Amino acid sequence: MSPEREPIGVIGTGYVGLVTAAGFAELGHEVHGVDIDADKVARLRRGEVPIYEPGLGEVLASNRERLNFTTELGPALERARLLFVAVGTPPTYSGDADLSAVHAVVEALPQPSAGSDGHALVMKSTVPCGTGTAIMRRFAEQGKGSFAYVSCPEFLKEGAAVEDFRHPNRVVIGDEAGWAGDAVAALYEPLGAPIVRTDIASAEMVKLASNAFLSTKISFINEIANVCEALGADVGEVARGMGLDERIGPHFLRPGIGFGGSCFPKDVTALKQLAGNSGYHFQLLTAVIEVNELQKRRVVGKLHRHLGSLVGRRVALLGLAFKPNTDDMREASSLVLAARLLAEGALVRAYDPVAEEQARALMPAGVEFADSALDVLDGVDAAVLVTEWPEFLALDWDAAAERMSGTLVVDGRNALDPEALRRAGLSYEGIGRR
Ligand code: UGA
Repeated sequence: MSPEREPIGVIGTGYVGLVTAAGFAELGHEVHGVDIDADKVARLRRGEVPIYEPGLGEVLASNRERLNFTTELGPALERARLLFVAVGTPPTYSGDADLSAVHAVVEALPQPSAGSDGHALVMKSTVPCGTGTAIMRRFAEQGKGSFAYVSCPEFLKEGAAVEDFRHPNRVVIGDEAGWAGDAVAALYEPLGAPIVRTDIASAEMVKLASNAFLSTKISFINEIANVCEALGADVGEVARGMGLDERIGPHFLRPGIGFGGSCFPKDVTALKQLAGNSGYHFQLLTAVIEVNELQKRRVVGKLHRHLGSLVGRRVALLGLAFKPNTDDMREASSLVLAARLLAEGALVRAYDPVAEEQARALMPAGVEFADSALDVLDGVDAAVLVTEWPEFLALDWDAAAERMSGTLVVDGRNALDPEALRRAGLSYEGIGRR
């Protein structure tokens, strides 16, 4: 089959699935998106975009004739031999990934009819190393041995997912050297990225190890920032000096109030847990997780240092999403910070330009929501920049200072211009910044 005309199925239309579906449709493929959420499918059919992801709406709209959304597996199975799986694998209480949605897909696949061409499950969901082998064993038990399996982990970032699909750094394909790996490689060929062909377990491990390494980089620079604070160095200068070493690189050396999102916290814990389950104690990851938890709370220490007791103090949170350009609140540092501040007796006000709806469902009771960046500052003793949305970077700090009753601004992302704040009469506190 010519790769340009290869129809594909995408099971799960969350961030990863929907971007994958849109991306392949843009490359000219007929795409069958399948989701058990009938309401979401109805919205997608009406041309609505159920998530906030820059550029995604445009790609979906301009490729509508190639995109089909349904709650049924049937059309995907009938039309496509490659079925991408992009269902959620959230953490469980034990730290292991919850694979129930993946297993539900495996169980829902029908017995292949006699003489039918083979299908392949192409796993995009982040799963523990060993999942592919277990699924193939299950296929064999169920007499679905004609299903092939490919691990094709996804590396896209929320907020830049469409561009990441179009320009991946690499595509990793793990399979058993059959037709399916070649077919997936042919799909990605037009993107021009290096394609890493390997075995299934190694492909699964590339994904977990990549996220764990990036998380380690962040926790590392956060600790350097904390030491810089104690010793009078500036972490921005340090990161710049380090990042020019090609072996280190400049990326993911931005200190802040900890990493969040649906991936890093979950995947670091899952890898640590996976290692533990096989008898290996992954000490480094234990520290990465602990540093990240402490980092979310360090802001409270800074507020104490300036304000003393926080009882009855009003604190504004500028931004709530786990990072800019997304409405995703999963594992957002703002959740921990708000809960800590409330526990200290502070009055917490919050504003996010995009994530308010998601945030209202998750934020602890008692948080007051405001309608704009200036409104949230009304009468507050201190403000904390939690998410570096462009709107906050361009804030009129003179107007902000007039709204605040105190003067303290804690820049939890080292993204503001300290001089602009000082000129407005505000006191600036960054993370490891001089
Ligand atoms: C991350 C990876 O970057 C993607 O490659 C991967 O595909 C994805 O997880 C996943 O596994 O699905 P994402 O969670 O969208 O992507 O967000 P990132 O941009 O990586 O940021 C994660 C967190 O780290 C954010 O809270 C961000 O604020 C924080 N961060 C990032 C820092 O604190 N410092 C940095 O230097 C970079």
